[in-house]
Amino acid sequence: MIGSLNGVTPGGWARYASSMQNAGAAAIELNTYYLPGDPQIDGRQVEQRHLDILARVKAAVEVPVAVKLSPFFSSIGEMAQRLDQAGADGLVLFNRFLQPDIDCETLTAAPDVPLSAAAEIRLPLTWIALLHGRLRASLAATTGVVAAADVVKCLLAGADVVQSASALLRHGPEYASVLLDGLRDWMRRKGFTTLDEVRGMLAVHEDGSARERGDYVSALRDANSGADGVY
Ligand SMILES: Cc1cc2nc3c(=O)[nH]c(=O)nc-3n(C[C@H](O)[C@H](O)[C@H](O)COP(=O)(O)O)c2cc1C
Repeated sequence: MIGSLNGVTPGGWARYASSMQNAGAAAIELNTYYLPGDPQIDGRQVEQRHLDILARVKAAVEVPVAVKLSPFFSSIGEMAQRLDQAGADGLVLFNRFLQPDIDCETLTAAPDVPLSAAAEIRLPLTWIALLHGRLRASLAATTGVVAAADVVKCLLAGADVVQSASALLRHGPEYASVLLDGLRDWMRRKGFTTLDEVRGMLAVHEDGSARERGDYVSALRDANSGADGVY
């Protein structure tokens, strides 16, 4: 069981992480949910906040510590590397920010939490594929895992583990077995016997080539053709 923690003060993060460890958590996930609403806060400060929280918690517990990140960094890759070097045992890609809607009739903000849609899987998929094999930390995929095929996609991109929240809220906790049965069926159909054979098959190599057939990196390249040629 992994304790998910969202703290406020630096001391609070460490104290509650320690309490979770003492209560039996096998690991801690830091939900570093932070919306830098003050325009005076620069990007490096936001990044440093994540590193500081990680350092405080790592010093307070012995169990592995994962950091759940938002996708809103200028360079996800560099941030991931810095967290990795600072001792993060896992990175969870990605958290979602609450983005309140506006009700035009009542003229109020509507702070509901919409459940994820399947298309949202593309963002974590992209970054998992790009970061797989480049970090010591494990990679967890989250946001948009709504069907067994999404679990498969995350593993092919290079996720060590896959998380799902909205789908379980929609269909109930027993839906976890639908996801797992679907993964097993797919593996049987494709002739895979272990997850290690699947993990990272379509990840992107450091030289920019894909591990197998170039599918994922070609797709990224195609998507960027005509732009400034990032890939
Ligand atoms: C109703 C609701 C409550 C959530 N509460 C938390 C929370 O307390 N801590 C957290 O780290 N993430 C929380 N999340 C985010 C989910 O853990 C997950 O990262 C996000 O929903 C994306 O995954 P999904 O597409 O499988 O839903 C919440 C999501 C929903 C929909």
